Amino acid sequence: MAHMAWIRVPAPTPVVTASSASWQRARRPPLCSASPLSKRAIDEPVPTLGPVAAAVNRVLQLKPLLQRAQSSATEMMRTRGSSIGADWAEHKAYVERLAPEQHLERLVQSDTLRRLPQYYNVSFHAYQAGNRCWSAAMDADVATLTVHSTLFDEENPSLLGDEQMRFNFCSTICMYLEDEVDDARCVVDVGASTGLSTRHLLRTFSNADIVALDLSEHMLAVASALLEHDGLTERVSFVHAAAEDMPRVVQRRDVDAVVMSLVAHELPRGALGQILEAAFELMEEDALLAILEIDPDAPAAGRLLSNPFFRGLFRSTEPYLDDYLTLDLPRAISEAGFTFVAKHGVSPRHAAFIAYKPRASDHT
Ligand SMILES: C[S@@+](CC[C@H](N)C(=O)[O-])C[C@H]1O[C@@H](n2cnc3c(N)ncnc32)[C@H](O)[C@@H]1O
Repeated sequence: MAHMAWIRVPAPTPVVTASSASWQRARRPPLCSASPLSKRAIDEPVPTLGPVAAAVNRVLQLKPLLQRAQSSATEMMRTRGSSIGADWAEHKAYVERLAPEQHLERLVQSDTLRRLPQYYNVSFHAYQAGNRCWSAAMDADVATLTVHSTLFDEENPSLLGDEQMRFNFCSTICMYLEDEVDDARCVVDVGASTGLSTRHLLRTFSNADIVALDLSEHMLAVASALLEHDGLTERVSFVHAAAEDMPRVVQRRDVDAVVMSLVAHELPRGALGQILEAAFELMEEDALLAILEIDPDAPAAGRLLSNPFFRGLFRSTEPYLDDYLTLDLPRAISEAGFTFVAKHGVSPRHAAFIAYKPRASDHT
């Protein structure tokens, strides 16, 4: 990875995710609606682990064993990263040269730090300090590209994996919005992290302002440094806040889309429910909600997740994984007030969940 503008990735091949349907035509009666008698999906208890999963969990609670398993997984990822042009050490050095600490000083919100939700202040992705530390923020882009490098071809890892998945996700958004994509005025990137998703939203919504919102000041600082270096900040504003607070902290009242990429699996159910409700409150009528996430029903994801050791190790780095994997996400989206439209596969393991905020007049 030479010192370039961020990481150069090959262009993906276009995909047709489904027959082209306009957003208006796609607006059909909800695919799932809440039954007033049943508990909300988000309030259902997370199922307890089965005997095999519980046994693996017990074994992984032995600290030295867990540390060994996590560090050999990280080592494997670093080696794979280097082999595909996403060298972790080089990327870290590159980010450091951009002085992200100066960006942090500018964007950090003391009010947000005071009100950090307890569920967020825990270890994630094998970083003791979770998402709020420099190591996690400096590794985030290369780690993501490496994890996604085998999405479309398990034998031949490539930078194209992440790019292709996001391209498919954004194509799905375009398929629904058609011409409206160019008219969008403001799009919120919930959990923008170091800006991978933000870059794709800038390309997709060529005239919109993008609000990159995240609870980690370190992740946002790296996003700000990288995007500024690439001359991409003209339409981006960085908001250091909890997504639950969106209606209060996002100053715009012309939000045409809320996009949440790879965040839901990092949230306990209650928080995800609050974020869906916050997005609903913030958005304009008819606005689009697009969520990119692991699809537990996708065969490739199912195969991986049915391996108890893999799932146990994954769970050890993602504390709320089971909250997400056992949640009926379309139902939770509907219960927050949205009209759920469709789920489209965007990689062998991920799906786009598409919904919109109905007009008040739709209810009359
Ligand atoms: C896996 S990263 C996803 C990054 C990016 N959207 C992407 O597609 O690559 C998840 C991000 O969500 C952020 N996050 C988690 N909970 C949040 C919350 N309640 N409010 C705002 N951001 C949150 C984390 O700090 C982290 O940066």
